[in-house]
Amino acid sequence: MTAAQNQSQVTPGTKVVLIGAGAVGIAYAYAILNQGLTDHLAIIDLNEELTWGQVEDLSHSVPFSGNNIKVSVGTYADCKDAALIVNCAGVAQREGETRLDLVARNVKIFDSINSEVMANGFNGIYVVATNPVDVLTYVTYKQTGLPSNQVIGSGTVLDTARWRHNLGKHFNIAPSAVHSYIIGEHGDSELAVYSSSHIAGVPMTSLLDKEAEQDPEIHAKIEDMFVRTRDAAYDIIKAKGNTSFGIGSALARITKAILRNEDVALPVSAYLQGEYALDDIYIGTPTVLNRNGVRNVVELRLAEDEYEQFASSAKTLREVNESTGLTN
Ligand SMILES: NC(=O)c1ccc[n+]([C@@H]2O[C@H](COP(=O)([O-])OP(=O)(O)OC[C@H]3O[C@@H](n4cnc5c(N)ncnc54)[C@H](O)[C@@H]3O)[C@@H](O)[C@H]2O)c1
Repeated sequence: MTAAQNQSQVTPGTKVVLIGAGAVGIAYAYAILNQGLTDHLAIIDLNEELTWGQVEDLSHSVPFSGNNIKVSVGTYADCKDAALIVNCAGVAQREGETRLDLVARNVKIFDSINSEVMANGFNGIYVVATNPVDVLTYVTYKQTGLPSNQVIGSGTVLDTARWRHNLGKHFNIAPSAVHSYIIGEHGDSELAVYSSSHIAGVPMTSLLDKEAEQDPEIHAKIEDMFVRTRDAAYDIIKAKGNTSFGIGSALARITKAILRNEDVALPVSAYLQGEYALDDIYIGTPTVLNRNGVRNVVELRLAEDEYEQFASSAKTLREVNESTGLTN
């Protein structure tokens, strides 16, 4: 192997650098420690006291995990030999602040983080969770200059889990027997792909048509369920101040797919290069993940109305991306 080829290889190993020790970051940390997905977790946050406390507390859970894992207060020097960065750092919307104002503030925060990450020679896989996640993943791709296969966002992995959970309850079957994706923006313009949804191998549309013979309202009820799925975060945040366990587990699932070289399809936010006739955009769509990050983006065969909704979701994201001044 030539030096140039060697250079382009992603950093091996299972070391994870977590940036952001808030509710999401710590739920993720707890999940990967218990699942034994890393041999060293280094945590970076501006709030040093909080980071120290979280590292100590998490370390005390390690003896019960059955794994011997180092948990440490990190610095950006930890990025040099990190296999994975998971970025959950950022600020929440302030009262009276528009979504675009929030984007501008988080782009600034990401600029300071990503210049440190790259100055320390990071060459692993970079996973973004901070919202608006599709935009901040695009921003990370542009700010780091990493190849697009090495940068992904959590996309609609969490939304899809919520949807499968709700459909499983409706059809009285385990979520693992529900095959249905939510795609598009992680947010208000996302959509459920009814046309390719299957419940234990049976097309969902045919099951619902059959149910409609007894209950003519069933299609409207399932659409209501989709709206509740899409808006779940608003209700949970109202009740407990944040969402953490669902996203923590979703990020752990992505971590496992990458570090265990699984070649599994998850609906992460991936960089499109011609798929769905779109390019230069990060958006949620099934994507095959392995040790190199993205192996390939899966282009679903969408019904016409789904295709239009996906294109409209992409348009919404593109407008926000353009506001960052980083677009091609
Ligand atoms: N992608 C998803 O599906 C999903 C789901 C839930 C939440 N989120 C997002 O995850 C993000 C984190 O949410 P949270 O509830 O953990 O927030 P939080 O406020 O609890 O934690 C954010 C942390 O980021 C840290 N931080 C801020 N600027 C930093 C910097 N420059 N360097 C290092 N650390 C910095 C803060 O000190 C804080 O500890 C939010 O943007 C939230 O919207 C995404």
